[in-house]
Amino acid sequence: MQTRPFRHGEGVFLWSGLDIESYYGAAMARVMPGHPIRQPEQISDPEQVTFALAWDPAPDAFERFPNLRLILSIGAGVNHIMACPGLPAGVPVVRVVDEDQARDVTGFAIWHVLWHHRRFGSYLTNQKHHRWERQQKRPTSTLRIGVLGYGHIGRRIALGLRQIGYQVSALCRDANNRGDAGIRLLSGPGALEKIAAESDILVNILPLTPETTGILSAEIFDRMPLGSALVQLGRGEHLVEADLLAALDSGHLSGASLDVFTTEPLPGDHPLWDHPGILVTPHEASEVHPERFAQLAAQTLAQQERGEGPLSGVVATDRGY
Ligand code: OXD
Repeated sequence: MQTRPFRHGEGVFLWSGLDIESYYGAAMARVMPGHPIRQPEQISDPEQVTFALAWDPAPDAFERFPNLRLILSIGAGVNHIMACPGLPAGVPVVRVVDEDQARDVTGFAIWHVLWHHRRFGSYLTNQKHHRWERQQKRPTSTLRIGVLGYGHIGRRIALGLRQIGYQVSALCRDANNRGDAGIRLLSGPGALEKIAAESDILVNILPLTPETTGILSAEIFDRMPLGSALVQLGRGEHLVEADLLAALDSGHLSGASLDVFTTEPLPGDHPLWDHPGILVTPHEASEVHPERFAQLAAQTLAQQERGEGPLSGVVATDRGY
């Protein structure tokens, strides 16, 4: 919590691989004209820099800037930032918490659940062959959907799916969360295994932490019902790709939607592209509109300058998200 009010100075873009300046720069300059944000090599006096916009920073990215008071993630996820060995201790990291983003991810998740439930892939194939073939359909109310994660976005997904009429369970870290009507919350030891065993479609939206790395593995796929499907919207590192391919090849899982990957962009020769049971999208579930991001950033800077805490969206360092 910031207790002593102060004035923010300049900002710096810190990323590796993503050109966040060309995406966010113009909006930031419009919304926060008093706080120029530059690339590290354009900064002549690093001591003037008090905040950073970051995504996947290089290990030493923060070192040149001794007066950082705030690190703003350009996304909802902060795993790249929290894992940075040079992350300065005690500087708050703030992630995006945005209703539009939650709505976009919810729509995206529902679309993929419907894709697997209604087997839309088969219509595409049939159309190619001019084949008019109706399918037997399971009623919506009989399908069990498991949502892994019940934070800001996971909760919205669960509520959206429930509203359509699916049976929804969700994995929630906080055992004291009282939840929402019609949604079964599970937490604690064995909860993940139980949800997996009772889900026809499993939607992952967990944050990436050391505890959640590799959790989508054979151990979970083996427990999932025969013919069930996976919708993976968390982080690539949640998934053991070889285990997924094996579960699909054996016919135990009927399909998977993957929006996030350990290596992004997914290399052109990666086997996930060509698997008939996999639908690949390029980390498209949502992105925060630059204007909206700039407004959130301006609000957070102002909140910190006024000495108000805790900052909205601040990451709990012990949890890592
Ligand atoms: C993310 C995002 O964190 O797109 O993946 O916001």
